[in-house]
Amino acid sequence: MDTVITNGIIATATETYQADIGIKEGKIAALGLRLEGAETIDAQGNYVFPGGIDIHTHFELPFMGTVSADDFETGSIAAAFGGTTTFVDFAIQGEGESLHQALETWMARAKGKAAIDYGFHAAIGDMTDEVMNVEMAELVEQGITSFKLFMAYKGTFMVDDETLFKSLLKARELGALIMVHAENGDVLHYLINQHLAEGKKEPIWHALSHPPEAEAEAVGRAVSLAAMAKAPIYIVHTSAAQALEKVKEARDKGQRVLAETCPQYLFFNIEHYKLPNFEGAKYVMSPPLRDEGNEESLWQGLVSGDLQVVSTDHCPFNFVGQKDMGRDDFSMIPNGMPGVETRVPLMYHFGVNEGRFSVNRFVELVSTNPARLFGLAPQKGTISIGADADLVVFDPQKEVRLSVENLHMNVDHSPYDHITVRGYPVLTMQRGKIIVRDGQFLGEAGAGQFLRRRRV
Ligand code: URP
Ligand code: ZN
Ligand code: ZN
Repeated sequence: MDTVITNGIIATATETYQADIGIKEGKIAALGLRLEGAETIDAQGNYVFPGGIDIHTHFELPFMGTVSADDFETGSIAAAFGGTTTFVDFAIQGEGESLHQALETWMARAKGKAAIDYGFHAAIGDMTDEVMNVEMAELVEQGITSFKLFMAYKGTFMVDDETLFKSLLKARELGALIMVHAENGDVLHYLINQHLAEGKKEPIWHALSHPPEAEAEAVGRAVSLAAMAKAPIYIVHTSAAQALEKVKEARDKGQRVLAETCPQYLFFNIEHYKLPNFEGAKYVMSPPLRDEGNEESLWQGLVSGDLQVVSTDHCPFNFVGQKDMGRDDFSMIPNGMPGVETRVPLMYHFGVNEGRFSVNRFVELVSTNPARLFGLAPQKGTISIGADADLVVFDPQKEVRLSVENLHMNVDHSPYDHITVRGYPVLTMQRGKIIVRDGQFLGEAGAGQFLRRRRV
C-alpha cells in the first residue's frame, strides 16, 4: 500500500467498525487488520469518515450587483479544512447564452483554482428550444446530470410552469434530475415592491416579503408538476415546516421527491433580522429564516428521512462593502451566507453529540446521500474497496469555536461565531493525498478534478 490509515473507527452510512484502510494509487485498496504501507497515519481515538460532499455551493457567483466573496480557490480550501472533499456548484446560464457557454465560463473559473474535486449542475436561466431539445442531452453526456430551475427571482432567472413541466419531461427522458428553488416569484415580487413603497426597508422586510406560504405553494406546485411528468424532483434549501409538509405528503403517496436543507435553517430564525446595527443583513438569503419552531421541524425531517441531504448554499458576502449595499433598501442586500467549511462539524456536533441521530446517519446526510443522488457513487461518498480515497480523520473530542479567526472562508464574519463544536477534522485526504493536516493546508490550488457525474 502507498498509505495505511490505522487504528481509526471507520464510519460509513451503514456501518461502524475498527479496521485499517489501505490506499494505493489514490483508491481504497484494502480494508483489514495489520495492513502495511509506505506511510502510516495513526488515527487512534478518531473516526475515519468518507469526505464530505456539498452539492450546493456558489463560488465566485456574480449576483445582485456584486460577486460572492469566495472564489473556487478560497472556497474549496475552506471546504477541505471543514472535511469536505467534493462540491457541486452551479453553471448559471445568462440571458441569450447557451448552456455550453455557461459551463465554459464556470469551468474556467474553477480551473487552476479548485483544490478539491468538483462538478456542476446547469442552472437554466433562458430556456430556449435549443436548450430543451439539444443542449440538455449534450450536457448529460458531459457529466452534467442535474439541472436547476428557479421559481423565484422574477425578471432574471424565474421560469414559468410550462418550462418547468417540459424540463421535468426532458430530464426523465435523459435520466437527469431537476432541482428547484421553490418560492412563488410573483408573490415575492409583489410583496417586495409593496413593502418598499410603504417605506419598509430594514432587513426584517426581506423575510416578510418571502412568506413561508410562498415556499410551500411553490414546493406543492413543483411536486405536482413532477407527478404529472412522472419525474423525480429535488427541492433545494428547504427552509419552512410548511414546505417540508408538501414534500412529506408527496413522499407518503410514493412519489420520488428529494429534498435538502441547509445549516442556516437549522440554527437561526427570523429574530436574527431584528439585530441592531444592520447585523440582520448577514442573514439575508432566499428563502429567508423562518419563525422559531421551523428549525425543529427540519431536524425532524433529517431524522425521519423526509430530508435526505444537508448542503450549504454557500454564497458569502462581506458585511462591509457587500451586505451594506442594502443599508437603505433590503432588496439590495446580496442574498446568501457562508457555510462550506462549517457544515460537517455543525452536523456532527448538533446531530450526533446532541443525540438526534447516529454517526451513520450523519455520514449519510453529509456525504453518502449527496453522492448517491447526484451520480457520484460509488466513487465518492463511502469507504469501500475501489472508491476514491477521499477521507477525513475526525477527532470527536477536538473543540473549535467557529469564529472568523479559526475559519478559512474569505468573508469578514462568521454567523456561527458564538458556537463551539466538539468534533472536528484533523486530517483531510483527497485521492490518497493529504490536503489538510493539523490546521495546515498541504494541497494545491487546481489539484481538484472535474467529475463527470452519472445519470441519476
Ligand atoms: O440566498 C441565496 N440562497 N443565495 C444563493 C442563490 C440561491 O438562490 O440559491
Ligand atoms: Zn436558490
Ligand atoms: Zn443556491
